[in-house]
Amino acid sequence: MAPWLELPYEITNVTAEEEKIIRKCLLGYTKPFVRCGKTGYVMPGAFRKHAEEIYNMQVRPDDIWVITFPRSGTTWIQELVWLVENNLDFKTAKSKPLYKRFPMFEITAQIPEIAFELIKANFMNLGNFQGLYEAAKVPSWKSLAEAPSPRFIKTHLPLSLLPPNLLNTAKVVYVARDPRDVAVSYYYLHKMVAKSLMRANFNHFWEAFRRDLLPWTPIVAHTNEAWTQRHHPNMHFVYYEDMLKDLPKEINRMCGFLNREYTDAEVKMLAEHLSFESLRKNKNVNNTTSANSEGIQFVRKGEAGGWRTHFDEKQQLQAEDFLVERLKGLDLKYPSFPLVESTRL
Ligand code: A3P
Repeated sequence: MAPWLELPYEITNVTAEEEKIIRKCLLGYTKPFVRCGKTGYVMPGAFRKHAEEIYNMQVRPDDIWVITFPRSGTTWIQELVWLVENNLDFKTAKSKPLYKRFPMFEITAQIPEIAFELIKANFMNLGNFQGLYEAAKVPSWKSLAEAPSPRFIKTHLPLSLLPPNLLNTAKVVYVARDPRDVAVSYYYLHKMVAKSLMRANFNHFWEAFRRDLLPWTPIVAHTNEAWTQRHHPNMHFVYYEDMLKDLPKEINRMCGFLNREYTDAEVKMLAEHLSFESLRKNKNVNNTTSANSEGIQFVRKGEAGGWRTHFDEKQQLQAEDFLVERLKGLDLKYPSFPLVESTRL
């Protein structure tokens, strides 16, 4: 048994002003939001109680972890990884929900924290949510400790908040996406799950996003942690935009990483299963195959560059400043944001 590790970072409450901005976008959370470590990752308050358990989770060499910032194509890559690793077992994939095959690590620090009456009024009739809620009641690090190998684990936590031996022990897949598309997609996710939990319009949401105040932000630092490890033999770094551009190519890259071989016909079949239209209809993957009253679904648009129709001119400039500023001094690149384009800072 490995020795119990103390957290190497501090957890502090966000400032009163920051709390106000967050709560404009997210209602119903029962505790003040917190910031973790020097980078200041924002998390719901319940994370404080669970952070040490999370940091001390026993990683297994045959685990496969998918790490993403929310709305970066997590679900898409999870289904890909799971099928590649499970001999393209479409039968099980079509009968068992993804959240059971590939549980979310820190869900206990999120969903049960939202006031139950709000959950009941807002989420319970949404696709797989009831099952997700029940699953979140048992801390995932406890259920995962009892789960048979190989385990498939999804998390939105950055590497620095995860067990320190993770990358040297297990395989990790990281998906990155243009933060501007993430911001739009994140906004619609909140609108979808809880219209009445959100007083914000896109402008409020963007303000919180660009100030790195929403849960799991700052996004660029989050992605950069994985990017700097991209040559580690256990790290597989993927861009959402590359999956959109050439899915079979990304499937083949993943097969190489996971040491799996499939024929071209099998890769084609997998690509069809993973297509936007197919995943959108798949109720084991798309948590909400029937759209909410505003027509929003979990698997929503599936585009690169859709942010252009949501950002006004001021927001476009703010976004450019945000990216230039956050990327300063890093060699992380987003294919959709070549830094040469930007001359404003
Ligand atoms: P949009 O809201 O921009 O459409 P996550 O799983 O991390 O929450 O990411 C959700 C985003 O991935 C959503 O983005 C969703 O539509 C997109 N997505 C899911 N499956 C996809 C697919 N097969 N093709 C393209 N995009 C997909």
